Amino acid sequence: MTRQLVVTVPAVDAELASDALWGLGVVAVEERVDVDGETELWTSLGDEATAADVRLPQPWPWRFVEVDDAVAETWRQFAQPVWVEADLVVCPAWVPFDEPAGVVVLRIEPGATFGMGDHPTTMLSMRALRRLVHMGCTVLDVGCGSGVLAIGACVFGAQGAVGIDIAPAAVPVTTANALANGVASRVGVSTTDLADLDGTYDLVVANILAPALIALSADLLRVLAPGGSLVISGILAEAHAHVLSALAPLRVVATDELDGWVAVTLR
Ligand SMILES: C[S@@+](CC[C@H](N)C(=O)[O-])C[C@H]1O[C@@H](n2cnc3c(N)ncnc32)[C@H](O)[C@@H]1O
Repeated sequence: MTRQLVVTVPAVDAELASDALWGLGVVAVEERVDVDGETELWTSLGDEATAADVRLPQPWPWRFVEVDDAVAETWRQFAQPVWVEADLVVCPAWVPFDEPAGVVVLRIEPGATFGMGDHPTTMLSMRALRRLVHMGCTVLDVGCGSGVLAIGACVFGAQGAVGIDIAPAAVPVTTANALANGVASRVGVSTTDLADLDGTYDLVVANILAPALIALSADLLRVLAPGGSLVISGILAEAHAHVLSALAPLRVVATDELDGWVAVTLR
């Protein structure tokens, strides 16, 4: 059996609630309409999830439901390779895919973490990273989930990448994905709080929702090496000025948008 989280929201709040769940690191969110016409969002925070893990921005009713493993895994049948760029694919590890010549393919098994490459914020962050990574640079991935960005950075040429996440599942999942993609010796991952992390990094990426980015802003500034770049995503095109203010004196050097989401590069 697998523990599912079901959040019930008025239809008008479905998108906001889905975004909040993505920010908690879920892999997939399924929308169902219940008998009262309200929207149920079905997802998973992992089998060990407790009430403390259900951090929602509004007091929507929620419940845990134990469901059959086969039902919980249905989404896997429909997972597809994601073309992040014309020559860059993130492929679910269990999906057969003939690698075309000249195309970089990252194989990702998400387990109970976020990071299949299919969410706009992951795609935007990955594209920004690919532009910014230079040979030998060091990368910090705050909220690494499946490790997809940290692993991508190493495949693009980074000397090494450190991933951190508050979700314990991110550690074994990122470790296994780094191994599967041939960069295990260059990817480190832990549940260390950003506040407790020492050192600085040439490139810092944080694909987390706005409130978390603001809460982490002082430490994001602290861990960024002088002259380094910070890529933030998980923020909406129409509402992210408050996040940029929290990251002053860094200045925006690029803003990339997809489906209402943005990734902003600051330096
Ligand atoms: C949207 S997912 C991003 C996953 C992956 N980096 C990607 O781009 O696909 C956000 C991740 O941030 C993690 N997270 C949320 N708040 C965090 C915090 N304060 N510190 C570290 N990780 C956090 C979540 O557990 C989740 O795995």
